[in-house]
Amino acid sequence: MIWLVGNKGMLGTQLGLALTAAGLEHVGTDRELSILEPEAIAAFVRGKGISWIVNCAAYTAVEKAEDEVELCTRLNAEGPENLARLALSLGAAILHISTDYVFDGSGKRPYREDDPVAPIGVYGRTKAEGESRLRAACPKHVILRTAWLYGEHGANFVYTMLRLMRAKDRIGVVADQRGSPTWAFDLAAAVVSIVRAPARHYGTYHFTDEGEISWHDFALEIQRLGRRYGLLERDCAVDALTTAQYPTKVRRPAYSVLSKEAIKASFGLAIPDWRESLETFIKTNRDRMGPRI
Ligand SMILES: NC(=O)c1ccc[n+]([C@@H]2O[C@H](COP(=O)([O-])OP(=O)(O)OC[C@H]3O[C@@H](n4cnc5c(N)ncnc54)[C@H](OP(=O)(O)O)[C@@H]3O)[C@@H](O)[C@H]2O)c1
Repeated sequence: MIWLVGNKGMLGTQLGLALTAAGLEHVGTDRELSILEPEAIAAFVRGKGISWIVNCAAYTAVEKAEDEVELCTRLNAEGPENLARLALSLGAAILHISTDYVFDGSGKRPYREDDPVAPIGVYGRTKAEGESRLRAACPKHVILRTAWLYGEHGANFVYTMLRLMRAKDRIGVVADQRGSPTWAFDLAAAVVSIVRAPARHYGTYHFTDEGEISWHDFALEIQRLGRRYGLLERDCAVDALTTAQYPTKVRRPAYSVLSKEAIKASFGLAIPDWRESLETFIKTNRDRMGPRI
């Protein structure tokens, strides 16, 4: 039995669907069973025969985190440690989702799993702390770092761009930050492959869709596909901005590309290119992308 933690978030919702489609027995919880309550989570798992805890719950509001350090630390560091301790006591394994924000983004080649972490904001620091507390608490762990996630079950860059492009004549998007847009559907499929793999390869791995792009070029591709699939009717100029022209509370990594060599070698995954996945996402979800987004 798999316990899916954070099953109402963007990734968690997608993963619940993927586990069901794969015929994998699972039980899901979200905020109603807080990962900050060790006794409650221990009582919940009792007698369920849990073999994997998969944690998608987190504090993910990157900007707000700068003002909510304590809550962010509790959710991203203490929470995963609580789950890892519980996994250890059950003899179960834990799969935990982490982020490119553990790196500072000053790299010039795709980040490997063993590159030193150097987070530049509260969110990244707390996620890095969560990783190390989880590693120390339970040796049977898989930490999966991902980046630039979008999907149908949560607020994300694709929806934001389509909404802005419908409403405005001109928008500006940062062109000097690069990463790999990643469809939650693809990440969920990777998690399914890992938990059903006949051999357990514990450790830290990176997963994003293949390819890399700037936010600005990502926005242009969203616009091109939005037009193609009838989601955008009016023109909107998309200006390229520098990070300095688009000040935010938290500094974001300039280079967020993650190497996927390790996960491909250990689990034999075939990872889709981000452009193909974006097109499939837009094509298959265009009916939902009406006024709702
Ligand atoms: N989104 C991205 O671009 C991105 C990029 C890299 C890595 N990641 C990582 O990917 C994972 C999933 O991200 P996501 O975007 O799917 O996040 P999300 O949509 O914010 O989902 C997180 C879920 O955790 C729940 N939660 C909050 N506090 C909780 C608690 N005390 N106990 C149990 N559940 C609680 C949240 O509920 P509420 O909504 O009610 O707070 C929410 O349903 C996270 O680990 C994140 O760090 C995300």
